[in-house]
Amino acid sequence: MQYLPQLFENNRAWVEKMTAQDPDFFRRLADIQSPKYLWIGCSDSRVPANQITGLQPGEVFVHRNVANAVIHTDLNCLSVIQFAVDVLEVNHIIVCGHYGCGGVKAALTGERLGLIDNWLRHIKDVRDKHSDQIAPGMDMAARWERLCELNVIEQVRHVTQTTIVRDAWSRGRNLIIHGWIYRLSDGKLRDLRVSVAGSGDVETAYAKGLRGLR
Ligand code: CO
Repeated sequence: MQYLPQLFENNRAWVEKMTAQDPDFFRRLADIQSPKYLWIGCSDSRVPANQITGLQPGEVFVHRNVANAVIHTDLNCLSVIQFAVDVLEVNHIIVCGHYGCGGVKAALTGERLGLIDNWLRHIKDVRDKHSDQIAPGMDMAARWERLCELNVIEQVRHVTQTTIVRDAWSRGRNLIIHGWIYRLSDGKLRDLRVSVAGSGDVETAYAKGLRGLR
């Protein structure tokens, strides 16, 4: 008995479609991986990196976790960043959050969900750090959206603080870190304009992001 037959059927159809378009597609992909981008996004099933950016397999290296967090000691995320920067030599790291993020909402409201509460504690730290921008008296939807943005801005800063990115910049590497946000309801990506291309830009971009300048 084959479990989940529909997924295998989808896979066969996909292989046929890709091969019809480009007979060498899989052979070429198997030989070399040279993506230009590292995507750090939320695990949310509605935010698939390749599809929303129109990128093909082989074009974006992806790390996803709940609420797109970059934690200073998370060896999983740090290993992905190191491999992407030093081995694959990507030129862009995109931290992409999304409005409507359930992880961010749980951090905002303090809702208890289980073990994940410990992971979301990092997002609660973002909430507490910027409590002036998401005060309890404000409209809940507005607070939720702003915390989704603030979380991206903080995680971009975390990427810039890693030894990996600092060392790459000190070697003169062309490496830009970006903060984007995706809206589930219209499918559109928005650039939060906090891109950083070197250690000298970090604080300026961060301050600009916190002021909410577009
Ligand atoms: Co999410």
